[in-house]
Amino acid sequence: MKPKLINSIEEMSTVCRQLKGKIGFVPTMGFLHAGHLSLVSEAKRKTDIVIVSIYVNPTQFSANEDLSSYPRNIERDIELLTNLDVDYIFFPTDEQMYPDGYKTWLNVDKITQVLCGRSRPTHFRGVITIVAKLMNIIDPDLMFMGEKDFQQLVVLKQMIKDLNFRTKIVGCPIIREKDGLALSSRNKYLSYSGRKKALCLNKSLLLAQKLFNRGIISSNKIISQMTDLIEENECIIDYIEVFDQNTLEHIPKLISGSRIALAVIVENTRLIDNIKIL
Ligand code: PAF
Repeated sequence: MKPKLINSIEEMSTVCRQLKGKIGFVPTMGFLHAGHLSLVSEAKRKTDIVIVSIYVNPTQFSANEDLSSYPRNIERDIELLTNLDVDYIFFPTDEQMYPDGYKTWLNVDKITQVLCGRSRPTHFRGVITIVAKLMNIIDPDLMFMGEKDFQQLVVLKQMIKDLNFRTKIVGCPIIREKDGLALSSRNKYLSYSGRKKALCLNKSLLLAQKLFNRGIISSNKIISQMTDLIEENECIIDYIEVFDQNTLEHIPKLISGSRIALAVIVENTRLIDNIKIL
């Protein structure tokens, strides 16, 4: 059956207060791919009622970013979610989410200022604010998010803990194309040759794991070899960081369980990826 499409905050909130059973929520910005669909499938497995929000949140984009060109295709999204038997799609407008006179913003200290926060200083404020609003409207039991945006996952877990939301976050593994490229709505921007170059993100992460397996643990040495591989592919590094996956603090020596994340500009598109070192 087609999911019920709801635009109004009031209606979504009223429906959610009357639902019986465990609510699973998947927040998205639409233009769904297999990564999003894996979150929905996980939500279907773990909860009774699944709600997916589709909202391209303007406040997490800065003025020089791709808000106006961000890919959108609501008809296709509805079809994909119908196939997965989703119960509700929440598809609010900007006027609903940020009416005239809107003034309230949330932030999380420190962990929003590292990694992606360095080059996107206002990004997490927008993400935290919109996710808190969505959680207030839907009040889900479980919220499903991908590990590709690893920093986002850690930041939102912290916000949930600090603000005493009852919702638990379920982190889900990165979904990749057969050749290793992590799925992202922004992959659509890449040309044929850009798509090939973009493989350097995953390849450099796999190289890091290989170096670690050979006994190299110096973060600097590993980052330096990853840098060479990425630059050979004519891509521009925003950052490569080796860090503790709970605190997001830089670690000089890799241990099993640490994470490496990177943001790389391929053609004009900024892509992110990460790996947990085993
Ligand atoms: O990861 C995303 O798609 C967005 O940041 C989110 C969580 C839907 C908030 O707009």
